[in-house]
Amino acid sequence: MGDLAARSAAESATSMTELVMPQHANVLGTCFGGVILSWIDIAGAICARRHCGTTCVTAAFDDVHFHVPIRVGDIVNASAAVTFTGRTSLEVEVQLARERFGGPQEHAITAFVTFVAVDGDGRPQPVPPLQIDSDGERSRFEAGAARRRDRLQRAAWSRGSVSAAPTPPAKPRP
Ligand SMILES: CC(C)(COP(=O)(O)OP(=O)(O)OC[C@H]1O[C@@H](n2cnc3c(N)ncnc32)[C@H](O)[C@@H]1OP(=O)(O)O)[C@@H](O)C(=O)NCCC(=O)NCCS
Repeated sequence: MGDLAARSAAESATSMTELVMPQHANVLGTCFGGVILSWIDIAGAICARRHCGTTCVTAAFDDVHFHVPIRVGDIVNASAAVTFTGRTSLEVEVQLARERFGGPQEHAITAFVTFVAVDGDGRPQPVPPLQIDSDGERSRFEAGAARRRDRLQRAAWSRGSVSAAPTPPAKPRP
């Protein structure tokens, strides 16, 4: 188990920059959504790991909305910060901005990703609490607590839905 002293969001804040290359594109020439999700996951995981000082696994992605197309040649700037800590889990907010060379940063995506700190056997471990230093951080923490309640309800539904709605087998092609 790592050091469980409270840590501020600033201590683990993470920035990551990517250049969208042809291998990241779909057939439309825009960045493939799965690649963007992987960048969100990586930025969030680095932030979570910095906060916890131990291995963290991704437990859940909240809704992700793609507001603007991101094209080959664009720069993608991701910034990640811890917003909420539970006992063994934490929420990281990842903001993604699109930048065209010479242009401004345009907000593209806000994603909330939940990570769980684990030991070498994958068992959940306590995380250091988030130190709250301002009213803004307190309201972000409270919003995170509310999202967590909703998320855990959806997680319970998602677990149950596996047996309730089995996927039909694919039809063989003629
Ligand atoms: C995430 C995981 C470790 C949780 O294990 P678990 O046995 O369900 O653990 P617990 O029920 O004790 O829950 C541990 C914490 O995870 C949280 N959690 C579990 N499932 C969750 C979900 N679907 N969404 C959000 N939080 C979740 C719990 O709320 C709890 O948080 P808390 O301690 O802050 O209250 C386990 O489900 C797992 O290993 N999943 C696969 C992870 C993975 O492969 N990710 C992709 C690659 S990194």
